[in-house]
Amino acid sequence: MSPLLDCIKKKKTNIKPIWLMRQAGRYLPEFREIRKKNPNFIKLCLNKKLSSEITLQPLKRFDLDAAIIFSDILMTPYGLNQKVSFKKNFGPSLGPINLNKIIEIDEVDFLNKLSPIYKSISNVKKNSLTNNKDVIGFIGAPWTLLVYMINKISPKKKLIKNFFINKILINKILIILEKFLKIHIKQQINHGATVIQIFDSWAGLLNEKELPKYIYHPTLNLVNYVKSFNVPAICFPREIKNYKTFCEIVKPNAINIDYKVDPKLIAKQINIPIQGGLDPKILLTDKDKLKKKTLKYLNIFKDHPYIFNLGHGVLPETDPMMVDYLVKIVKDY
Ligand code: CP3
Repeated sequence: MSPLLDCIKKKKTNIKPIWLMRQAGRYLPEFREIRKKNPNFIKLCLNKKLSSEITLQPLKRFDLDAAIIFSDILMTPYGLNQKVSFKKNFGPSLGPINLNKIIEIDEVDFLNKLSPIYKSISNVKKNSLTNNKDVIGFIGAPWTLLVYMINKISPKKKLIKNFFINKILINKILIILEKFLKIHIKQQINHGATVIQIFDSWAGLLNEKELPKYIYHPTLNLVNYVKSFNVPAICFPREIKNYKTFCEIVKPNAINIDYKVDPKLIAKQINIPIQGGLDPKILLTDKDKLKKKTLKYLNIFKDHPYIFNLGHGVLPETDPMMVDYLVKIVKDY
């Protein structure tokens, strides 16, 4: 069994597998080279040859235990016919929601639009660079996708006023998302994804009383769906106020923590495999500091099934040499 699955399924603690969120991305010159020639990000995600090549770029450089498919959580609204574009130094920008248009979409249309992603997963799976390693597929959690679909841009620190005003629209979108996220999960698994990560980047924007409707119920439903294929689900409800309660209700196979979480406290509170935590900004400092902070996480989770990762994605300013050093520290531990 691969190191990552050994850790998640067998709860082994003697190995500390490592992969990094945004391990394929702008900090790599070979990615920037491709990106320069491909100004349309969505088209790049839908180019099966280039997206598989980009997915494998970090595995060529570093001894990572998994590849995460080069795509985006916003490919789901794109598949649902909402316009999605990425503006330089601004982030994503979505078009208006036309519920009548969304309702017309069937599985065939959706799969036709997204099929290059699945072919890219097959390519990555077949490549010898992923032998005995995992291929991570992913989705955005319904809540985070709802935020982008309604807000149209990154909400930064808070939701727009009146976000919840059109409850009928929200409820319909949640039903549609559940259906199509399941289709997206199933295709990724059928084409070779061995783990599914569920990104809920905006979980931290909700109050306690809104969590059951927008986070616990929809995420539990999808986690159970992933588990029905005997594939583990890793959840990342970023900045959620209470990771322990989330784990008790949603029961993911592993939980990714953000960098604001106290690792010592969480190690005591949670007994499922834990992933991540290190602040990606530490990679912008120096080797000594990086080593110290990395060892801190490794020591705290010494007797816990732990997958090394960050508390959010690798930043574009990161020097690849620092990533190389990080991977070596973890492998030598
Ligand atoms: O992790 C990986 O290496 C796999 C690929 C991946 C991307 N996006 C590629 C990407 C994954 C797993 C994602 C997930 C994603 N996308 C999330 C969840 C994780 C998180 O960051 O909270 C979210 C919220 C998005 C939406 C999104 N996509 C935003 C907000 C942005 C703009 C900000 C940014 O980092 O540029 C993107 C663009 C994006 N997605 C890029 C990449 C490599 C940068 C595109 C570019 O080259 O300009």
